[in-house]
Amino acid sequence: MTDLPTLPLRDGHSIPQLGFGIWQVPSETAAEIVQSALETGYRLIDGAYIYGNEAGLGEGLRRSGVPREEVFITTKVWNPDQGQAKARASVERSLKTIGVEQLDLVLIHWPVPTQDLYVETWKAFIEMRDEGLVRSIGVSNFNADHLDRIVGETGEVPVINQIELNPSLQQPELRAANARHGIVSQAWTPLGNARSFEAAPIAEAAARTGKSPAQVILRWHIQLGNSVIPRSVNPVRQAENLDIFDFELTAAEMAAIATLDVGLRTGPDPSVFRLL
Ligand SMILES: NC(=O)c1ccc[n+]([C@@H]2O[C@H](COP(=O)([O-])OP(=O)(O)OC[C@H]3O[C@@H](n4cnc5c(N)ncnc54)[C@H](OP(=O)(O)O)[C@@H]3O)[C@@H](O)[C@H]2O)c1
Repeated sequence: MTDLPTLPLRDGHSIPQLGFGIWQVPSETAAEIVQSALETGYRLIDGAYIYGNEAGLGEGLRRSGVPREEVFITTKVWNPDQGQAKARASVERSLKTIGVEQLDLVLIHWPVPTQDLYVETWKAFIEMRDEGLVRSIGVSNFNADHLDRIVGETGEVPVINQIELNPSLQQPELRAANARHGIVSQAWTPLGNARSFEAAPIAEAAARTGKSPAQVILRWHIQLGNSVIPRSVNPVRQAENLDIFDFELTAAEMAAIATLDVGLRTGPDPSVFRLL
């Protein structure tokens, strides 16, 4: 099994740099797919209440036989669950559904600035962290102004900001803002819906290294210092996505991939997204 590199979190804990995402993994098959991912060697599972498969996450963990303390479990609080009481109820529900005593990381899924509850939610997260319901607390889809606001109003800095990142959407300013706060940038939809698989910088690096375009992109994330959480329901691809620690992209290849940034989102814009 691959010995996965970890990234230090600013609260003294650490996270595997590469993990496994379970968005759109059907609840009926989630247990089997999480079990397969853990057996393949993943030790970070990225879930969320809204994915509807937290029970399968927990079941897959138990079926795998991998000790609980060896697996890093993330979940997220969905938009209508923001606010002091609802955020707590959401975290308690996730703990129960997954069937664990403590979550390793909980994230505010989206800031939803129009409902203006993310600061209150963040304060609830701080309390739950201090009480031990969750070990680390972070955010997702936060822009620099949202980060500045929670840090300014509470003095508490998230350990992670999970954001959309791939070769077509590299977000250098937001990654720099995360870095200034000591926040790990974690990449969602890291493969960018295969949009840049055939782009010359990816294809050429793949040809030189004998790796697939997906592996080149995941390796690019790793070398940038991102945490990355690809998803695959296919055990062969699960293994492929983990097999990225035996090669290195050159500085020239990294620079060539940097030119692919066109600022194109596959998901919504966090400054306006408000789905409840
Ligand atoms: N915080 C947020 O708002 C947010 C939003 C979106 C996602 N996320 C998290 O980020 C995780 C990853 O993002 P994602 O699931 O959207 O996308 P992704 O991991 O970038 O891509 C998944 C897609 O790529 C395919 N794929 C996987 N490995 C491949 C490979 N080696 N070669 C070719 N195709 C491959 C998969 O198909 P197969 O399954 O058929 O292999 C699937 O269709 C999610 O699962 C979720 O945990 C968070």
